[in-house]
Amino acid sequence: MIEHFDQHIGVSFPHRFEKSYIQSEIRPDDTIIDLGCGIGQTTLEFAEHLTAGGSILGIDLSKNRIKEANILLKKSVFKDRAKFRIGDIESLDLGDASASLIISQGVLLHVVDKQSAVDEMYRILLPGGRAIVSLAALVDGNPLGWETDSTGVPIEWLPIYRYEEMFTEAGFKIRLYFDLAPQMKEALKGMEGRVGSAALQVPDNWCYALWILVKSSN
Ligand SMILES: C[S@@+](CC[C@H](N)C(=O)[O-])C[C@H]1O[C@@H](n2cnc3c(N)ncnc32)[C@H](O)[C@@H]1O
Repeated sequence: MIEHFDQHIGVSFPHRFEKSYIQSEIRPDDTIIDLGCGIGQTTLEFAEHLTAGGSILGIDLSKNRIKEANILLKKSVFKDRAKFRIGDIESLDLGDASASLIISQGVLLHVVDKQSAVDEMYRILLPGGRAIVSLAALVDGNPLGWETDSTGVPIEWLPIYRYEEMFTEAGFKIRLYFDLAPQMKEALKGMEGRVGSAALQVPDNWCYALWILVKSSN
């Protein structure tokens, strides 16, 4: 399925509400991993909140998106603290406890084995570390299965409780849940029925969920 992401490089969706939540969580010395970083625009915006003691690594399965991210990185003033590399978030080549903060924005809904990806998030986090996960989901009801957006990118519509079951199963505590859909609907006026840079037809009961998850330190 990754060929769709390779063919449609896209732009980072201007999730400005989501970004402001994430940015307010970043500590200057965090070791951040951005899982499913796409072309890395947002990753580099987060790098701005780090000092030289902090770092951010963007990982994405699409080699074309990582190529694009590395082009942006070359032009960035934050190249001392940011890196990009190809990787599958279902099975990461990173050691246990390698991150203090994980970001994964608009990714899990595209991932086939979501539980493995969530388990990997938990494994690579330091005890006491945080994961900020955001995505479009259903408010409630039954899963609707896989659909494709106008660019052919597959997405799976699951209700938020299914994601919360996965987080709990992995060992996470949910510190905060927030539905950003009302702000997004306002910002996206004129794009009714769509979300994101691709024309994704959304079900009536969609939400844009943002969770702050914590890996307990004891
Ligand atoms: C909608 S984009 C979001 C990109 C970025 N997080 C942003 O907010 O702009 C979803 C990204 O997830 C990546 N992706 C999907 N499945 C993946 C996997 N198993 N491992 C790593 N990346 C994956 C895609 O290549 C794509 O770049």
